[in-house]
Amino acid sequence: MKFNYGNMLEKAIGKHGLPVNSLLESRTFLNQIKERIQKKINKNYYPLQLPEVMMPHLDKIKKTAKKIQENYENFVIVGIGGSSLGNKLLHYAINGIYYNDSISKNTPRIYFMDNIDPESTKTLLATLNLKKTMFNVITKSGSTAETMQNLLSITDALKKENLDLKKHLIFTTDPEKGLLRKLSHEFSVETFAIHPLVGGRYSVLSTVGLLSAAVEGINIDALLRGAELIKKNITKESNPTRCATLLFPLIQYKLYKERGVNINTLFIYSDGLSHLGAWYRQLLSESIGKRFTRSEEQIFTGITPIGVRGATDQHSMLQLFMEGPFDKFIIFIAPVKYRKDFSLKGNLINNENINYLKNKKASQLIKSEFLATQTAIKTSGKPSVAIEIPEINEEELGKLIYFAEYEVVALGEMLNVDPISQPAVEFGKQLTYGIMKRKGFEEKNKKITEFKKMNKKHIIKTP
Ligand code: PA5
Repeated sequence: MKFNYGNMLEKAIGKHGLPVNSLLESRTFLNQIKERIQKKINKNYYPLQLPEVMMPHLDKIKKTAKKIQENYENFVIVGIGGSSLGNKLLHYAINGIYYNDSISKNTPRIYFMDNIDPESTKTLLATLNLKKTMFNVITKSGSTAETMQNLLSITDALKKENLDLKKHLIFTTDPEKGLLRKLSHEFSVETFAIHPLVGGRYSVLSTVGLLSAAVEGINIDALLRGAELIKKNITKESNPTRCATLLFPLIQYKLYKERGVNINTLFIYSDGLSHLGAWYRQLLSESIGKRFTRSEEQIFTGITPIGVRGATDQHSMLQLFMEGPFDKFIIFIAPVKYRKDFSLKGNLINNENINYLKNKKASQLIKSEFLATQTAIKTSGKPSVAIEIPEINEEELGKLIYFAEYEVVALGEMLNVDPISQPAVEFGKQLTYGIMKRKGFEEKNKKITEFKKMNKKHIIKTP
């Protein structure tokens, strides 16, 4: 992986960049951050241990995955937020956007039930041959309303066809706590445990992400190996300003604090990797968007992440990035080599306005646009960095995942906020329970009634 930070420096883009010395002189600060993370790695930051701790569990995961591959045509991942975004990232990055349509694969088609829009739920359940479908219900808390509703829809559909629940359900949840764990005993459903210290958005390298990955033939050993390589590099590199995993959060921290840059834009030049944007969006938003510091001081801190697809979004957002406010930091990401490529002959068409594209590799245009857009952003005085991976594969993906998770934890340490909690998400969940009249959440229902009353006054009806 190559990390190029030249285009966020003051000498490259002027006053909206940072002086190189302010980065190089942050060695002591970075070493302190590194030490603080290390001290908490077996507790609060346990997800950063996953590359090692998951290794001994891979055989069991692979064994179950093989059974599923042999007996089912469809595998549905049922979960929301951290209990599905990582699975989506792995799926699209390694197997691509047309995986389900490929006729040459021997692995099940993959579907996601990661929302509760009844139109989608009904369509999916009516489309699948349920006799040949396995549903993997994933929820750390074991009771998230959306996932519970989807579980009910699935069990109703299975019952309608007289299918045995335990032959069509696999659960992934807390080892002891929560409703799903209880149901696993009641219905004798095979269940994978999520370590109690591994939270939603940091769980892709745990049982949450690994089982579905193994089912679709992703090399989960290589995934963990890649993550482990980044972990080792952080420990091994004695100068933290030479370690991209530490320098990256420092750049974001300084741009945020010293230049008021509060939007991070992942500009990803790969369709497969585009779900990295959605996964990272949750990781950064929930980890850093915090009202209080660890010492209970009110700060309302946060950096807004955006995921943008290159080259497509050059034709939608680039205008804003270049000529709009100086509030964005662009992170360009691309593979050096595209796994599939071909030469363009174009013998049937002859016109000088198209001939420049001929007799070249198809990848040459996207690569040129990757470069052109970086140059354009630099010219506009906006800070950017570029991350290049040799090609998309499991090891490189494992590296990217660990790189991002460590970076967000380090950013939390720098900003003195807890990157592991998500109190606001929990509050939203409780209001839903209140409005849906879940027992024990009556107080929250009152809040909703007040909200509805106040809102009535300002409704305008238009035709
Ligand atoms: O990061 C988090 O913890 C949350 O966003 C969760 O991933 C999300 O709310 C789903 O929770 P659960 O896995 O408990 O169903």
